[in-house]
Amino acid sequence: TLPQVLSGQRVLISAGGTVEAIDPVRYISNRSSGKMGYALAQAASWLGGDVTLVSTTKALTEPAGVQVEYVQSARELHERMHHYFEQADIVIMAAAVSDYRAKNIASSKIKKSQQDTQVMQIDLEENPDILASLGAKKALDQVLIGFAAETDDVLDNARAKLRRKGADWIIANDVSDQSIGFNSDENQVTLISQDQEISLPRMRKEVVALEVFQTLFADCDERA
Ligand code: C5P
Repeated sequence: TLPQVLSGQRVLISAGGTVEAIDPVRYISNRSSGKMGYALAQAASWLGGDVTLVSTTKALTEPAGVQVEYVQSARELHERMHHYFEQADIVIMAAAVSDYRAKNIASSKIKKSQQDTQVMQIDLEENPDILASLGAKKALDQVLIGFAAETDDVLDNARAKLRRKGADWIIANDVSDQSIGFNSDENQVTLISQDQEISLPRMRKEVVALEVFQTLFADCDERA
């Protein structure tokens, strides 16, 4: 059996890429599979946590023992995360949130233009930055963790994100390497806080997830 390092802890996790409607049949999304967030939710439950997962995808099996809620857009995700935030001890934003959404969602399917113009425009407007908004209202005893999926300058970008978003930890991973990140079953991450940098080896996402909690919360047991 696993050490119950999260016993008594409420853990809130988001997973998957947000889905931003353009019209009734089209949307803007991204390549996030949700696998890392699901692995974190499963691991948190195995480690004794009381886990809520807010997910954008129904393609993955619900982790055992985890309360799952489904959303689509960044605004819906924002609402659910804030709904559960105050009660949570540990919050992980593993979802890939679309920075923009369609300014107007067409109520019927947009037709192909009959004019000769080969350019079609969709106006976008900015979504809320969910992690930053949680960071702004975080209590001292809450632990807020974000992800930084980067293709370039992975660690520098992650450090900048840590400050900008008011997170306690940023989990950095390099998504330019196809064998890790996004749809892959494996990941190689570096955990970054204000004064620590911990690199974990490349492993299956389930193992990465267990290691993340065991690395960051191993002392909860001793304090209890
Ligand atoms: O998109 P970006 O690289 O800035 O994402 C870093 C972190 O911020 C991730 O944890 C992601 O879930 C979160 N994020 C968010 N709201 C956004 C954009 C990103 O919560 N609008």
